[in-house]
Amino acid sequence: MAMGGGNGGGGGRRLTAARPEGDRSALLRRTAGMFRPYVWALTALVLLLLTTTGLDLLGVRLLGQMVDRMAGGATLGSLDRLFVLYLGAVLGSSLLGVVQSFVNQAIGQGVMHRLRSRLHDHLLRLSVRFYTSTRTGEILSRLSTDVNAVQQAVTGTFTDFLGNLFTLVIAFGMMFALDARLALITLLVLPVWVYPTMRVGAHMRTLMREWHEESAKMSSHLEETLSVSGAMLTKTFGRQEHEAARFERSNDALRSLSIRRLMAGRWFNMGTSLFGALIPGAIYWWGGRAVVGGDLSVGTVVTFAMLATRVFGPFAGIARLNTTLLSSLAVVERIFEYLDLPVEVEERPDAVHLTRPRGAVAFEDVRFAYREPAAALDGVSFEIPAGRMVALVGPSGAGKTTVTYLLQRYYDPTSGRVTLDGHDLRDLSLDSISAAIGTVMQETYLFHTSLMDNIRYGRLTATDDECQAAADAAGLRALIARLPEGLETKVGERGYRLSGGEKQRVAIARAMLKDPPVLILDEATSSLDSRLEREIREATAMLARGRTTIVIAHRLSTVVAADEILVFDHGRIVERGRHDDLLARGGLYASLYQEQFADVEAAGV
Ligand SMILES: Nc1ncnc2c1ncn2[C@@H]1O[C@H](COP(=O)(O)OP(=O)(O)OP(=O)(O)O)[C@@H](O)[C@H]1O
Ligand SMILES: [Mg+2]
Repeated sequence: MAMGGGNGGGGGRRLTAARPEGDRSALLRRTAGMFRPYVWALTALVLLLLTTTGLDLLGVRLLGQMVDRMAGGATLGSLDRLFVLYLGAVLGSSLLGVVQSFVNQAIGQGVMHRLRSRLHDHLLRLSVRFYTSTRTGEILSRLSTDVNAVQQAVTGTFTDFLGNLFTLVIAFGMMFALDARLALITLLVLPVWVYPTMRVGAHMRTLMREWHEESAKMSSHLEETLSVSGAMLTKTFGRQEHEAARFERSNDALRSLSIRRLMAGRWFNMGTSLFGALIPGAIYWWGGRAVVGGDLSVGTVVTFAMLATRVFGPFAGIARLNTTLLSSLAVVERIFEYLDLPVEVEERPDAVHLTRPRGAVAFEDVRFAYREPAAALDGVSFEIPAGRMVALVGPSGAGKTTVTYLLQRYYDPTSGRVTLDGHDLRDLSLDSISAAIGTVMQETYLFHTSLMDNIRYGRLTATDDECQAAADAAGLRALIARLPEGLETKVGERGYRLSGGEKQRVAIARAMLKDPPVLILDEATSSLDSRLEREIREATAMLARGRTTIVIAHRLSTVVAADEILVFDHGRIVERGRHDDLLARGGLYASLYQEQFADVEAAGV
């Protein structure tokens, strides 16, 4: 079902319906633009449609003539001739119908293929802000369901419309040529039948849309509760019954919507088949009187009855055109909405490419807000000469992680600049920024593939030996030896088959392969067991050697070793200096030290 496919179809449709005409025609033009590369194929499609419709209706006319020959006692030869013609018309129409479907599909799938790639490319370029504010399920649905719906809606609408138009024009042309009075009556009776079925059809579409919305809701709910983290959360809080009840509500709604939709469909079909049965009866009755009176031939009445049943569908289709068009446009519009999302972090056309960055980093009076007016960073300035280490400390929510985001250009500052080797990040190519910076975060994201592939993500050209060496250096040797398939072991979705420390070491191995001049480290807050802790510390220390390092520090050893400590509070740097000096000052750092580091020190880690 093309119309209202995917979730939130209703919103899109209302949006379109409320649009001023000018916008809608712009949307239509843009939609038509997607088909520009297919002008010749579309021309062929139109000709094919015209030919198949013409041949099909010619077949009907030939049947009528055969009936006349029968009734008039014609020669056998003329019947043979008519049959051969009929055979040609029917075969031609069927075979060309196949060709027509092929052309139609080739166009539709071609447009869809391009749209899908463009959408995917665009999504990859969108900033992190887009991903933190959109549900994954929704993004996936636009990329798959909506793009499919566009193909069905647009090519379906187009071919249906033309096919219907041709059928109506040719069939009514034939009917008026045969008998104007009977044709006129058919034309007047049609709306009486079409209107109620259209009402039922509209009702069906509403139900269909509700069903889509409900089932989208159910699947995103399932996606959340049946994922690893979701399943753990449910168990931890003993929320199985709560989740079951929530599921049951959706499940009930789907059942009743399905039944109502099917029943509406049944009424719709009943209406159509009733019409299909009654119309020939009425024409035989009415036309039969004319035949008896000698005004009409039997063949004409038979032709009429057949043509009348054929125009019903196309007539309803054309009458529905506005609705169909609107809902097709709504789907198209939702795709365009995504394609039009501005790429917040964009590479300048004349961007500088750093071939061998040294890794000097500076923040110059940087202000940044995730959402105005609350600034996450406000007037932050600091400089890290290449190869030095800076530790960021501060209470939760102070803006430490945000600093690392801006440095990776996930976001641009609202004012001030972030520089790498003296270049504003906005002047550099995105590639040179990502090549210059490596990260080891607390939450390491792993793909559901082998350990080897996950490590190789650091540098795609790395050989197996290099991956192995990086894994060893990151302290993964013991783990790999224990695994039955070694480095080829799959890590499970998001790496759930690995412990937190193991995942972090995979991240270290990745960063080693990448070998960037700038390193961002987010130290683990939870104290791991001390041997593991020491191993990771050694691996990260080795990784950090010779690189510019920004570390969100949770360990005493780190802050003591740092060239400078930046103390953040409410998005500002409130204190800065070396450990001993800051401690002696007795300010925020001193109290943080009491809370965070002193007990660790006491534990002897
Ligand atoms: N995606 C986001 N959208 C809106 N606000 C955000 C977003 N991410 C962080 N914030 C807000 O920005 C502020 C700074 O957050 P940040 O993550 O930088 O803190 P942090 O110092 O790293 O804290 P922690 O030590 O808890 O990790 C916080 O008030 C936080 O609520
Ligand atoms: Mg943080």
